[in-house]
Amino acid sequence: MSTKVAIVYHSGYGHTAVLADKVAQGVRDAGQTPVVLPIESATQDFKPILDAITEADAVVFGAPTYMGDVSGVFKVFADATSAVFFTGGWKDKLAAGFTNSHSFAGDKGHALASLTILAAQHGMNWVNLGVAPPAVTAAERGPETINRVGSFVGVAAQSDNASPEITPPAGDRETARLLGVRVAEAAVRWTRGAQPALSDAA
Ligand SMILES: Cc1cc2nc3c(=O)[nH]c(=O)nc-3n(C[C@H](O)[C@H](O)[C@H](O)COP(=O)(O)O)c2cc1C
Repeated sequence: MSTKVAIVYHSGYGHTAVLADKVAQGVRDAGQTPVVLPIESATQDFKPILDAITEADAVVFGAPTYMGDVSGVFKVFADATSAVFFTGGWKDKLAAGFTNSHSFAGDKGHALASLTILAAQHGMNWVNLGVAPPAVTAAERGPETINRVGSFVGVAAQSDNASPEITPPAGDRETARLLGVRVAEAAVRWTRGAQPALSDAA
């Protein structure tokens, strides 16, 4: 049976959505099933997304960095997950995350920290990026470089003020694909290990 990875993200202007598509491609490349769930607005009914995460084996959260944190729309969604918090419905699920902003730093780390805390509050287990920062000089880092800004906790992409067709660049897209592969492979191992005897001992 295929392992399901939910990819839940907000993107105000389409750049973070590019990364979501690449994470999904990575999940498919690992032979597993991505379930792509865009958050369209702060006023939508979040229940279908919450239910889809509950059904998935792992979830990858994505949000653009706005004012040094996840976007407000994503935060409204995060608050809505409190409905699941009270049931412990996502405990022991795997989680990971990605963000994207205009600046190289741009306080993206703070947005990724918010995603890890969201996962931790639900008792989920965080899967980090697992891609070493580039072993080249800063001058040698180009748009094709994987993990260009050198993030550990998740994907930290950088987009210019241009169309999502051309930015974020190829290296950031590939970094997002690699996160999808990593989460899917981790989820396969994690669900295989969830034998009843082990669960009963928890
Ligand atoms: C309200 C707002 C706040 C932003 N704050 C930041 C920020 O704190 N750091 C940064 O580097 N870029 C910031 N940006 C730039 C966005 O992160 C950047 O345009 C990103 O590519 C948008 O992603 P999206 O197209 O998925 O919405 C901000 C943009 C907006 C609209």
